[in-house]
Amino acid sequence: MANLKVNFGGLLFDNPLIVGAGPTTKDAKTCREAVEHGAAGVIAKTVSAVAAKVPRPNMHDFGGKYFLNTETWSEKSVEEWVDHEYADCKVGNEPLIIGMGYVAEDIEKIVPLVDKFADGYEISAHYVGRDLSPMLATLAAAKKHTKKPVFMKISPGIPDLAEVARVLEEAGADGIVALNSFGPCLSIDIETGMPHMGSGNGYGWMSGPAFKPIVLRHVLELAKAVKKIPIFAVGGISTGKDLIEMIMAGATAVQVCTQGIIEGPKAYGRIVKEANDWMDAHGYTCFEEFRGLTIKQLEKRNGQGLMETETPILESKNCIGCSICEKLCPHQAITMNEKLPKFNKEKCTGCGLCTSRCPKACLSMIQLKK
Ligand SMILES: Cc1cc2nc3c(=O)[nH]c(=O)nc-3n(C[C@H](O)[C@H](O)[C@H](O)COP(=O)(O)O)c2cc1C
Repeated sequence: MANLKVNFGGLLFDNPLIVGAGPTTKDAKTCREAVEHGAAGVIAKTVSAVAAKVPRPNMHDFGGKYFLNTETWSEKSVEEWVDHEYADCKVGNEPLIIGMGYVAEDIEKIVPLVDKFADGYEISAHYVGRDLSPMLATLAAAKKHTKKPVFMKISPGIPDLAEVARVLEEAGADGIVALNSFGPCLSIDIETGMPHMGSGNGYGWMSGPAFKPIVLRHVLELAKAVKKIPIFAVGGISTGKDLIEMIMAGATAVQVCTQGIIEGPKAYGRIVKEANDWMDAHGYTCFEEFRGLTIKQLEKRNGQGLMETETPILESKNCIGCSICEKLCPHQAITMNEKLPKFNKEKCTGCGLCTSRCPKACLSMIQLKK
C-alpha cells in the first residue's frame, strides 16, 4: 500500500481525492457521504451573497462521455448553510473547504459568517470572466478576513496561464484549482428541437471524461509556472489512472465532481483504490516519486523538438488475434498472419493509432528523438 497522504496548501488529506463543488456537496449529508465513501475531504457547494435561482432542467449525462450542467451556485443562502449545514459537514478530521464566489463584496459578506466552520476556502471565478482583476479583488477580500488557506478556482480558456499562476501566487493565493467546467456549450433534444438545458439561451457547461485533456494541459502549464503553491486538478477524472495522469502533469491533489454524480459516492473509494493499485503494481510508494514526471519528460525534448517512432512492438503472448488493429490501420500497414498482426515497415508511418485501440494493450511504441 502506497502512502497516499497529501499536504495541500497546509491542509492534510488522507488521500489526494477531494470532492469538487457541485450537487454531490450540496449540503451536510452529501458532504459526509463523500468522506464515508473514501473521499479525503470536500469543497462545499459554492455559496454567494444571495442564493442562486437555478434553471431546470440543469444536468444531462451523455453516456458517461461528457456532461452538461447549468447548476450555477448553491440554492441555499449562506445563512442557511451557517444555521443548518456547515457544522455537520464533517465525519472526522478531514478538512472542510468552503466554496464561495464571485465578487469582492460577496466575499466580504461570506467569510466573517463562515470562518469558524472553514479549514480553507475555494473562490470560484466562474462568473467574472477571464480578467484577473476581479479574481485578485476576491482574493484580497478573503485574505482580509481569514488566516486560513485560500485557493483560487479558474475557468478554462485563460490565454496566459503562466501569468495567472505568477500573479495569483504573488497576491497570496495558497493554491490554484483548475478547472471549472467548460463552456458555454449547447446540446439539443432532436425529438423537440429544444436544448437539453433550461437556461435562457439553452447553454450549459461541460464536464466529465471528454474534458480531461483540456484540464491536463492547463494543470501542466500552471504547475510549470508556480514556484511554491500547489495545483488541484479537477475535470474528467473517472478512474485511478486519470488521477495518476493529473499527478504526472504536476497536480498535488485532485477533485472529482461528475463521476460522483453519475456513479454515486462509491466512485471516490474506487478511484483511490485504482490509483493505489496502479502505484503498487509500478513500485511507487508515494506521489512525490512521479509528481510532475511529464514536465521533466518534456524538458528532455528541449522545447519544440519533434519525436519519431518505429513500427509498433508486439507483446505476442497477450494478443488474442482480434484483428482490430488490422481493420483500424489507416495506412493498411497491418495484416493478420496466423492470428498475429504483422507490420509492413514500408507502409507503417508510426502514427500510433493501433497502440491506442488494442484491447489487450499488447502494442507499444517507443518515442525517439528526431
Ligand atoms: C452539476 C454541477 C454543478 C457544479 N457546481 C459548481 C459550483 O457550485 N461551484 C464550482 O466552483 N464548480 C461547480 N461545478 C464544477 C465542478 O466542481 C468541476 O470543476 C467541473 O465539473 C469539472 O470536474 P468534473 O469533470 O469532475 O465534473 C459544477 C459541476 C457540475 C457538473
